[in-house]
Amino acid sequence: MQKTMEKAFFTDPLQVPEQLAIIDGILDENKDLAGATMVVLNRIQESIGFISPSMQVYIAKKLGEPVSRIHGVVSFYSFFTTTPRGKHTIKFCIGTACYVGGITQIIEKAKQILGIEPGETTEDGLITLELCRCVGACSQAPVIVVDEAVQGRVKPNRFPKTIQDLKSQED
Ligand code: FES
Repeated sequence: MQKTMEKAFFTDPLQVPEQLAIIDGILDENKDLAGATMVVLNRIQESIGFISPSMQVYIAKKLGEPVSRIHGVVSFYSFFTTTPRGKHTIKFCIGTACYVGGITQIIEKAKQILGIEPGETTEDGLITLELCRCVGACSQAPVIVVDEAVQGRVKPNRFPKTIQDLKSQED
Protein backbone atom coordinates (compact mmCIF):
# COMPACT_ATOMS: atom_id res chain seq x y z
CA MET A 1 0.00 0.00 0.00
CA GLN A 2 2.75 2.39 1.04
CA LYS A 3 4.61 1.81 -2.26
CA THR A 4 1.55 2.66 -4.33
CA MET A 5 0.96 5.82 -2.31
CA GLU A 6 4.58 6.81 -2.72
CA LYS A 7 4.06 6.74 -6.48
CA ALA A 8 0.67 8.35 -6.32
CA PHE A 9 1.33 11.57 -4.51
CA PHE A 10 4.92 12.30 -3.68
CA THR A 11 8.35 12.14 -5.17
CA ASP A 12 11.29 10.76 -3.24
CA PRO A 13 13.03 13.86 -1.80
CA LEU A 14 16.38 12.22 -2.54
CA GLN A 15 15.55 12.69 -6.23
CA VAL A 16 14.68 16.37 -5.86
CA PRO A 17 17.90 18.46 -5.86
CA GLU A 18 16.51 21.25 -3.62
CA GLN A 19 15.22 18.79 -1.04
CA LEU A 20 18.40 16.72 -1.15
CA ALA A 21 20.40 19.88 -0.51
CA ILE A 22 18.29 20.59 2.59
CA ILE A 23 18.78 17.03 3.87
CA ASP A 24 22.54 17.15 3.23
CA GLY A 25 22.76 20.55 4.91
CA ILE A 26 21.05 19.24 8.06
CA LEU A 27 23.28 16.16 8.09
CA ASP A 28 26.51 18.14 7.63
CA GLU A 29 25.57 20.65 10.27
CA ASN A 30 24.64 18.12 12.95
CA LYS A 31 26.39 14.84 12.28
CA ASP A 32 29.18 15.41 14.82
CA LEU A 33 26.87 16.46 17.66
CA ALA A 34 26.19 14.15 20.58
CA GLY A 35 22.66 12.80 20.01
CA ALA A 36 22.87 13.67 16.31
CA THR A 37 20.26 11.10 15.31
CA MET A 38 17.34 12.78 17.11
CA VAL A 39 18.38 16.28 16.04
CA VAL A 40 18.77 15.25 12.41
CA LEU A 41 15.50 13.31 12.28
CA ASN A 42 13.57 16.14 13.92
CA ARG A 43 14.93 18.75 11.56
CA ILE A 44 14.33 16.62 8.48
CA GLN A 45 10.76 15.83 9.57
CA GLU A 46 10.17 19.57 10.08
CA SER A 47 11.78 20.67 6.82
CA ILE A 48 10.67 17.93 4.44
CA GLY A 49 7.49 16.81 6.21
CA PHE A 50 8.26 13.10 6.40
CA ILE A 51 11.09 10.54 6.50
CA SER A 52 10.53 7.84 3.88
CA PRO A 53 12.21 4.40 4.06
CA SER A 54 14.74 5.45 1.39
CA MET A 55 15.54 8.61 3.37
CA GLN A 56 16.08 6.45 6.47
CA VAL A 57 18.65 4.37 4.60
CA TYR A 58 20.39 7.53 3.37
CA ILE A 59 20.46 9.13 6.83
CA ALA A 60 21.76 5.93 8.44
CA LYS A 61 24.60 5.76 5.94
CA LYS A 62 25.55 9.40 6.46
CA LEU A 63 25.47 9.10 10.24
CA GLY A 64 27.25 5.73 10.25
CA GLU A 65 24.32 4.18 12.14
CA PRO A 66 22.53 0.90 11.42
CA VAL A 67 19.34 1.45 9.37
CA SER A 68 17.47 -0.56 12.02
CA ARG A 69 18.27 2.12 14.62
CA ILE A 70 16.99 4.97 12.44
CA HIS A 71 13.92 2.95 11.53
CA GLY A 72 13.36 2.13 15.22
CA VAL A 73 13.38 5.81 16.22
CA VAL A 74 11.12 6.87 13.32
CA SER A 75 8.56 4.16 14.10
CA PHE A 76 8.63 4.75 17.86
CA TYR A 77 7.72 8.45 17.93
CA SER A 78 4.38 9.39 16.45
CA PHE A 79 5.52 12.84 15.28
CA PHE A 80 7.70 11.18 12.65
CA THR A 81 5.88 10.07 9.51
CA THR A 82 7.14 8.00 6.61
CA THR A 83 4.83 9.60 4.05
CA PRO A 84 3.69 13.23 3.80
CA ARG A 85 0.68 14.04 5.94
CA GLY A 86 -2.50 14.64 3.98
CA LYS A 87 -4.18 18.00 3.69
CA HIS A 88 -6.43 17.02 6.62
CA THR A 89 -5.63 14.87 9.62
CA ILE A 90 -8.08 12.86 11.67
CA LYS A 91 -6.68 11.71 15.00
CA PHE A 92 -8.37 9.07 17.12
CA CYS A 93 -7.81 9.31 20.86
CA ILE A 94 -6.82 5.93 22.21
CA GLY A 95 -6.63 7.04 25.85
CA THR A 96 -8.46 4.85 28.37
CA ALA A 97 -11.77 6.76 28.44
CA CYS A 98 -12.00 6.83 24.65
CA TYR A 99 -10.99 3.21 24.40
CA VAL A 100 -13.73 2.23 26.84
CA GLY A 101 -16.09 4.64 25.06
CA GLY A 102 -15.74 2.77 21.76
CA ILE A 103 -13.04 4.55 19.74
CA THR A 104 -12.08 1.23 18.12
CA GLN A 105 -15.45 1.11 16.34
CA ILE A 106 -14.85 4.59 14.95
CA ILE A 107 -11.37 3.57 13.80
CA GLU A 108 -12.84 0.50 12.10
CA LYS A 109 -15.41 2.67 10.36
CA ALA A 110 -12.70 5.06 9.12
CA LYS A 111 -10.59 2.17 7.82
CA GLN A 112 -13.62 0.77 6.04
CA ILE A 113 -14.57 4.08 4.40
CA LEU A 114 -11.09 5.29 3.45
CA GLY A 115 -9.34 1.96 2.88
CA ILE A 116 -6.29 3.01 4.90
CA GLU A 117 -4.87 2.26 8.36
CA PRO A 118 -3.94 4.80 11.04
CA GLY A 119 -0.54 6.20 10.09
CA GLU A 120 -1.47 6.22 6.39
CA THR A 121 -2.74 8.83 3.96
CA THR A 122 -5.37 8.43 1.26
CA GLU A 123 -4.00 8.13 -2.26
CA ASP A 124 -5.31 11.56 -3.22
CA GLY A 125 -3.31 13.08 -0.34
CA LEU A 126 -6.46 14.45 1.28
CA ILE A 127 -6.76 12.63 4.62
CA THR A 128 -4.26 11.15 7.07
CA LEU A 129 -5.42 8.96 9.92
CA GLU A 130 -3.48 8.98 13.18
CA LEU A 131 -3.81 7.67 16.71
CA CYS A 132 -3.17 10.00 19.63
CA ARG A 133 -3.08 9.93 23.40
CA CYS A 134 -5.61 11.59 25.71
CA VAL A 135 -6.42 15.11 24.56
CA GLY A 136 -8.06 16.06 27.87
CA ALA A 137 -11.68 15.77 26.77
CA CYS A 138 -12.35 12.40 28.43
CA SER A 139 -15.87 13.36 29.53
CA GLN A 140 -16.80 13.50 25.84
CA ALA A 141 -15.35 10.12 24.91
CA PRO A 142 -14.94 8.80 22.29
CA VAL A 143 -13.02 11.74 20.91
CA ILE A 144 -11.48 12.49 17.53
CA VAL A 145 -9.48 15.54 16.47
CA VAL A 146 -10.19 16.74 12.95
CA ASP A 147 -7.34 19.05 11.98
CA GLU A 148 -7.27 21.13 15.20
CA ALA A 149 -10.93 20.68 16.20
CA VAL A 150 -11.84 18.28 18.98
CA GLN A 151 -15.08 16.38 18.37
CA GLY A 152 -16.63 14.39 21.19
CA ARG A 153 -19.26 11.65 21.57
CA VAL A 154 -18.50 10.49 18.05
CA LYS A 155 -20.79 7.76 16.76
CA PRO A 156 -19.77 5.24 14.08
CA ASN A 157 -22.89 5.98 12.03
CA ARG A 158 -22.19 9.73 12.05
CA PHE A 159 -18.53 9.36 11.15
CA PRO A 160 -19.12 9.20 7.34
CA LYS A 161 -20.46 12.76 7.60
CA THR A 162 -17.11 13.92 9.05
CA ILE A 163 -15.35 12.55 5.98
CA GLN A 164 -18.00 14.00 3.69
CA ASP A 165 -17.55 17.44 5.27
CA LEU A 166 -13.80 17.34 4.67
CA LYS A 167 -14.31 16.29 1.07
CA SER A 168 -16.91 18.95 0.41
CA GLN A 169 -14.49 21.64 1.65
CA GLU A 170 -12.47 20.75 -1.46
CA ASP A 171 -15.35 21.14 -3.94
S1 FES B 1 -8.99 9.47 26.88
FE1 FES B 1 -9.65 10.42 25.05
S2 FES B 1 -9.79 12.48 25.61
FE2 FES B 1 -9.03 11.54 27.39
